[in-house]
Amino acid sequence: MTQIPSSDVPGMGRRQFMNLLTFGSVTGVALGALYPVANYFIPPKASAGSSGGITAKDELGNAITASGWLSSHPEGDRNLVQGLKGDPTYLVVESSDTIGNYGINAICTHLGCVVPWNSSSNKFMCPCHGSQYDATGKVVRGPAPLSLALANVNVENDNVFISQWSETDFRTGDKPWWT
Ligand code: FES
Repeated sequence: MTQIPSSDVPGMGRRQFMNLLTFGSVTGVALGALYPVANYFIPPKASAGSSGGITAKDELGNAITASGWLSSHPEGDRNLVQGLKGDPTYLVVESSDTIGNYGINAICTHLGCVVPWNSSSNKFMCPCHGSQYDATGKVVRGPAPLSLALANVNVENDNVFISQWSETDFRTGDKPWWT
């Protein structure tokens, strides 16, 4: 029987072939090992409601529930959740069983400080340069040039979703400046 030398295999020598096999296995193992690492750094997709929003999260990054929020926040309360792009966003508790359908972005429109809610004055009062906003986030005292941005808030199956507010700003009757 005649043996064909490996160098006669058309197009690829034995060494090249073995190199390819080795490279393939090493690459496969490396990619397999890297996948969970890469996955760790890619933030999970926030779940979306039918409104296409993101889930509102507490300061620890846990999704809140409407019932849980309402059981610990009284009527008139304004407290922060993580909203769109992680922006601190106030949820408005309208009654013992209703979260308002708008959220208020806490970033001051002057120079970007987070504006605290002052319940005794019923206003948002910026500690940085004294701007004030009413209970809906409408600017009532400068130097802030604009009202706080709004976001839509929808409750579905006890989940709280936040989505972009692109409708008319109900406080001013103007187009939203933040879109
Ligand atoms: Fe709020 Fe200047 S950043 S008043």
